[in-house]
Amino acid sequence: MADKLWDGRFSEKTDTLVERFTVSIQFDARLFEEDIDGSIAHSRMLASVGVITSAEADEIADGLNRIREEIKRDEFVYSDSLEDIHMHIESRLKELIGDTASKLHTARSRNDQVALDIRLYLRKAVLGLGDQLDCLRIVLVETAANHLDIIMPGYTHLQRAQPVLLSHHLMAYYEMFSRDHERLAETLGRINVMPLGTAALAGTTFPIDREEVARALNFPEVSANSIDTVSDRDFLLEFLADASICMVHFSRLAEELILWSTAEFDFVELPDAFTTGSSIMPQKKNPDVAELTRGRTGRVFGDLIALLTTMKALPLSYNRDLQEDKEPLFHAVDTLSSCVELYCTMLPKVKFKGKQMATAANQGFLNATDFADYLVGKGVAFRDAHHITGRAVASHQVAGRVQLCGQRFHLSGIVGFVERACQRE
Ligand code: ARG
Repeated sequence: MADKLWDGRFSEKTDTLVERFTVSIQFDARLFEEDIDGSIAHSRMLASVGVITSAEADEIADGLNRIREEIKRDEFVYSDSLEDIHMHIESRLKELIGDTASKLHTARSRNDQVALDIRLYLRKAVLGLGDQLDCLRIVLVETAANHLDIIMPGYTHLQRAQPVLLSHHLMAYYEMFSRDHERLAETLGRINVMPLGTAALAGTTFPIDREEVARALNFPEVSANSIDTVSDRDFLLEFLADASICMVHFSRLAEELILWSTAEFDFVELPDAFTTGSSIMPQKKNPDVAELTRGRTGRVFGDLIALLTTMKALPLSYNRDLQEDKEPLFHAVDTLSSCVELYCTMLPKVKFKGKQMATAANQGFLNATDFADYLVGKGVAFRDAHHITGRAVASHQVAGRVQLCGQRFHLSGIVGFVERACQRE
């Protein structure tokens, strides 16, 4: 087993139960690129302020780049006793370049190191999600534009309400995903802050140059308060809230695709490649992608709630509880990203059934509001027009006549009034 890099004051070996309980390498291994980039920038800065030599910084950078390649080639050896990705990389660096590796951690703590890694990771993830959402927005515009002639029932209370264009309905999702994109862009500003230099919590005695590290890693600003820097994760909470809201939007789209693909609605046919069959009922074609989208929405909310709960009442500054930030973060990024990718690919292949939608729009008095408006145009107050139309609808429903738009209003009283109004036109 590898020696611990922090075991100087310990006389007993860590219990294996403790190692198994505290290890995070199984999930934080994915931060290796960020960890290596951060360490290279840090060591170059240490050289430029004279804490280590340029030759040492070069040696460190070469070693770290070799480790990067080892990890990418799947040749890197992991061990629970090395806890996390930071320890793994530093320990391997020591094997590769010897004592110079021990200088890398000067003026740094894992507390600011991990804060840097997750900020670098999330910055990249958010930029990627932004590009993916742009693609989805284009797909929605194109789908709407390709179906400009389709009229469908618009719904309120899931009751047919008024006729609308399918394109109008689809563009509602365009607006939702556009705001999701905006929210992510605003959050990016608070993610994009360079934390290194705060060390464990109180800063460092070395004459470091934080601005240089920020420039090297493309951060527009450095964090202001070292205690806050190592202890808050509000930028992650914000991202998880953004991701949750975006998943809400996906869940609504998913739910509509599920409803619309039922025999009861029959508004869409989902592409075969994006549905699944039943193991017992040969006729079934199930909208599993949409159902899992709906189901996974709950798990992304869970990610937000999990981290909110971890952060609640946590005393300043760093506490090991904060290690629990990564799994919800990674899960939310992966889930959201896979949803955007799927809907970008699936939506252009969905068949919208214009005839069925139009038939549905023709039933259920969907132009009743327009008719009431028409009466207003003839001098009837809107509330009265609403009442008259409502009575007409009720009596026609009873009589089984559903043709309000045919403008035959047979009932005495109200209908006479309506007919007179129609004749005046
Ligand atoms: N694996 C730890 C985390 O994710 C890294 C920081 C550990 N710091 C410490 N002082 N034990 O938070």
